[in-house]
Amino acid sequence: MILNDIYEKVTPPIIRDFKNIVGSSYVFDDHESLYKYGRDETENLYYQPEIVVKPRTTEEISAILKICNHHKIPLTARGAGTGLSGGALPKCGGVVLSLERMNSILHIDEKNFQVTTEPGVITEILQNEVKAKGLFYPPDPSSRGSCFIGGNIAENSGGPKAVKYGVVKDYVLNLEVVLPNGEVMWTGANVLKNATGYNLTQLIVGSEGTLAIVTKIVLKLIPHPKYDLLLLAPFSSLEKAGEAVNAIFLAGHNPSAMELVEIDALQIVSEMVSAGSIPVHEGVAAHLIIEVDGNDQDILLKEMESINHILEEMGAGEIFFADDAVQKEALWKLRRRTAEAVKLKGYTIEEDTVVPRAALPDLIRGVKELGIAHRFHAVCYGHAGDGNLHIRIKKEGIINSYQNPEMQQILCALFKLVKSLGGTISGEHGIGLIQKPYMHLVFNEAALNIMRSIKKSFDPNNILNPGKIFDYE
Ligand code: LAC
Ligand code: ZN
Repeated sequence: MILNDIYEKVTPPIIRDFKNIVGSSYVFDDHESLYKYGRDETENLYYQPEIVVKPRTTEEISAILKICNHHKIPLTARGAGTGLSGGALPKCGGVVLSLERMNSILHIDEKNFQVTTEPGVITEILQNEVKAKGLFYPPDPSSRGSCFIGGNIAENSGGPKAVKYGVVKDYVLNLEVVLPNGEVMWTGANVLKNATGYNLTQLIVGSEGTLAIVTKIVLKLIPHPKYDLLLLAPFSSLEKAGEAVNAIFLAGHNPSAMELVEIDALQIVSEMVSAGSIPVHEGVAAHLIIEVDGNDQDILLKEMESINHILEEMGAGEIFFADDAVQKEALWKLRRRTAEAVKLKGYTIEEDTVVPRAALPDLIRGVKELGIAHRFHAVCYGHAGDGNLHIRIKKEGIINSYQNPEMQQILCALFKLVKSLGGTISGEHGIGLIQKPYMHLVFNEAALNIMRSIKKSFDPNNILNPGKIFDYE
């Protein structure tokens, strides 16, 4: 069955209804808008929506969903469009529901260490607002300066700090959501412990806009650590860097970031973003970026000394310590903009593999072997402390993985390797469109059927973000 055949088109009377709900200046069908909202940061994919609607309230979203559900019109929620798995692409056309106007932080509850926010708030703005009150919301995807908190929830994002502080799911206490039939509900309660029924909150986190539209978010906060220290360590071999990662954890350290960047990626990004005083060494294979944080500077210095010692024992070259806020920011900028920089250099296909941390050197070795066997070039970077390796692939003439048979073969081999190492196919970017063909490699039919029946009970008409995560029939 062709999914698009089961849907109705957005007709002029329906457009009039949308305009009545949100106001005519927030409904867009001009070419430029349809083009902009048909893309995200995933490869070079494009799916044109029929209409873009920008609501301001939960009630407006409820009214829009009632119409879509009645007429069987697909609706795809969209945050800032920074996704890397195609989650916000309107695969079956229909409505793109942009949450960009729902951008208020509603309440910072300092006594209870919580924040209630709308989904269209930029993650970094939220982090800065709570930091001004001494509070910390740790999940920090590389795109945190532009991505929305709602999109982070849809994809269960991570980022460098996840290694010590966990990912988005670890901070979501409660969500207000609108169901496809327009009903509004809360998934839980604003409490730190909750053993009350099924965990609907965690079911929505990472569901990629396929079950319900998140309209309010209650997040847990923690005290902001006072100090952090940051270093950059070069290695002559990628695998050696991977082994050093394990050695540091085995010695009992708990770094607040443990990132790995292969030299090609660091060189490419340092051409795009000024590296400042950060030394990007020639003749090395990879760098580790390691951060520790806490409230006692002496303890942190001792911890860094001990990590330094382990790095030297593991064969690191000259280690660079970021001395001040400017150097730290310069180094983090290089890391955060890596994906964007290597994509511009033709590494359009990004994978988000994750394995148990100790298997990281095996994964790295396997990727390089696959590259030789299938004649592709890969650059690796990512959250080594989580065993979460981003693999950017460049292969002559191929810019998209989705529906490209040669690339599908390569990704099948890669994901089989990941599975054989005890890992899975996405750590923090989600399945969306581009990882969907490989779900059967990591879940059996029983598991996929349970997911399908959950989808059906939320969204019997399959209007929410259709064509994502798995096939329904
Ligand atoms: C990163 C994004 C791409 O780690 O997840 O840079
Ligand atoms: Zn990442």
